[in-house]
Amino acid sequence: ESVTVVVIGAGPAGLTVATLLRRCGIDCVVLERRSRAHVAQRQRAGIVEARAVRMFESWGLADRVLDGPPHDGILEFRVDGESHLVADRDGSAGSGARLCPQQVLVRNLTDAYLADGGDLRYEAADVTVHGLTGDRATVRYRSADGTRYAIGCAFVAGCDGEHGVSRGSVPDGVLTAHTFDHGIGWLTVLADAPPPPRPLLAVSPQGFAAHFPRGPHSSRYYLQCPPDDQPAAWPEDRIWDALRTRLADPALPAGPITDRETFRLRSLVSDPMRYGRLFLVGDAAHIVSPMGGKGMNLALYDADLFARAVRDHVRDRDDTALRTYSERCLRRVWSDQEFSHWLTRTVHDAGDDTRCGPFLRRLARARLDRLFTSPTAAQAFAELMTGLDPAPDR
Ligand code: APR
Repeated sequence: ESVTVVVIGAGPAGLTVATLLRRCGIDCVVLERRSRAHVAQRQRAGIVEARAVRMFESWGLADRVLDGPPHDGILEFRVDGESHLVADRDGSAGSGARLCPQQVLVRNLTDAYLADGGDLRYEAADVTVHGLTGDRATVRYRSADGTRYAIGCAFVAGCDGEHGVSRGSVPDGVLTAHTFDHGIGWLTVLADAPPPPRPLLAVSPQGFAAHFPRGPHSSRYYLQCPPDDQPAAWPEDRIWDALRTRLADPALPAGPITDRETFRLRSLVSDPMRYGRLFLVGDAAHIVSPMGGKGMNLALYDADLFARAVRDHVRDRDDTALRTYSERCLRRVWSDQEFSHWLTRTVHDAGDDTRCGPFLRRLARARLDRLFTSPTAAQAFAELMTGLDPAPDR
């Protein structure tokens, strides 16, 4: 069996790569370790930035894969109970961001890919990658019934997330992993409780909190917590009390909690994002702290560049975009890492100063003041939120 591209992983990155390749008539196979049901219910990111919306539009896919209301382009920052509205539209013509939960995007991409006749194999175990620097690569796996397969290909798209096999198949010493730990923990809570009218970020002396819409009747909440906290430390009453205090909203309605997790805010960049015939896409190459919503959007950016690079190779025998893939992706990755780091530090340092000290707390407050009062600062913020900042694409 032989195809042009084997895609490992059916998250947002892998499904976008596969769907775009199908759009240009390039054959591929997607191998996913988990079941379709498992992949479909995994909840994470919730906002498709304006640049990514326009990317799907340029492929004629926006109507099929994006769901959910347009985001009205306003974020609320609530600082010690005082509300400040900040635009995250940059004023350019064209579509803005969409509030499309990741699992909805994944479901729609899966449907679109399969409807186009795509080949997607779930429960593919023991995926291994061979011959990455030879004339052709081979990807081996075992199906759910125990049959072993080997697929020859020109390129492997490593879209298997942070703990996948792709990055691990690269020999030691080739990739440099740049890592950063913010020393901050978050509790994330998903609940069937009324969503806020717009995304809300709250700075308070008790720590950071956020409230995001996740559908007409559900919400996602974030609470800063010690970096090694476990979900068991957060019984329901404590969660609602902390949210009401930090969001400065004593009447915040509660609702049944459907999921709760804790994690550390950290970042990782793998450089380069390519080894021979293997191209790393999405979380397999980089993790960005969740503040600013860049994780999924970066995956969509990589996927678009990769699919167009393969198209140039197949259609025009032009390998320029394959050669520059890593460098171009990394420019945007570092730009988004910087934005995410800036926003993470600002909203955490400005609140509880037991972690950062009073000096850094006042610096963070000064940055918020500037954002709330200077139209120029607000415009720079909006440009970064939309993903339409030109520097990374120059
Ligand atoms: N073989 C096959 N599939 C694998 C393997 C493997 N060895 N290891 C992991 N996978 C699959 C996972 O089951 C998952 O479906 O690869 C997929 C990776 O998906 P994500 O972790 O969602 O990564 P990505 O597609 O890059 O997502 C991009 O969206 O919300 C964000 O946090 C998410 O930032 C990430 C982004």
